[in-house]
Amino acid sequence: MKKILLILIAIILVGCQSTPSENMNTITNQASSETQEQSGKDNGKVLVAYFSRVGNTDFPENTDTSSSASVIVEDQQLVGNTEYLANLIVEQTGGDKFLIQTQTPYTADYDALVDEQQGARAQNLRPALASHVENFEDYDVIYLGFPNWWGGMPMPLYTFLEEYDFSHKTIIPFNTSGGSGFSNAIEDIQELCPQVTVLDGLTINGSQVQDAEDDVVSWIQEAQE
Ligand SMILES: Cc1cc2nc3c(=O)[nH]c(=O)nc-3n(C[C@H](O)[C@H](O)[C@H](O)COP(=O)(O)O)c2cc1C
Repeated sequence: MKKILLILIAIILVGCQSTPSENMNTITNQASSETQEQSGKDNGKVLVAYFSRVGNTDFPENTDTSSSASVIVEDQQLVGNTEYLANLIVEQTGGDKFLIQTQTPYTADYDALVDEQQGARAQNLRPALASHVENFEDYDVIYLGFPNWWGGMPMPLYTFLEEYDFSHKTIIPFNTSGGSGFSNAIEDIQELCPQVTVLDGLTINGSQVQDAEDDVVSWIQEAQE
């Protein structure tokens, strides 16, 4: 009996040898794996990939930002409407920000761009991209942002979606527009990436992105439930 008691005491003492930080790790790991099981979607690296006119246009120094649609000036930097949402999403999720950038920049002349892009859609063009995601396979969740261009995604988004293997990943779309919302974009994403899960998207009028923080926060919370 005495022997059994001694063995029990020895086992208890050995069990207490782990440092507080080891215990913390154990607790943290257990907690996070539970969370992962519960949400099922928020358990991997997050990429916030977006396309905006700013970042894809060589604006002249003297750009009249007050009359130039889809340009916000923040800390003396030009920010695109969709980029503005991308920044909020990065703040909320801690995801990696990625600008989808074409090899050839677009014209800074808004009306000319609008005309030109009607033709690009009609021809189903695939503009070559200058930017590429490193270690794309590491990302499980991709917030995908774009402006509405002629009733759908800008053509560089088609190039982007065809470049990577999105199978078994989750795309959470967001967009800005002059009022048309997503138009055909969601159907096109599903068609281009049939093995992807597409969650409910967020669409904001381009002129209202600076008031959209609350909408962004609650939409991300829903996506993570
Ligand atoms: C080429 C082009 C086509 C557009 N077509 C549409 C459209 O069909 N429907 C719409 O609501 N807005 C349209 N817009 C407006 C943009 O979607 C809107 O200004 C958007 O917020 C711009 O985002 P950005 O600053 O991230 O580029 C178009 C803009 C451009 C430049």
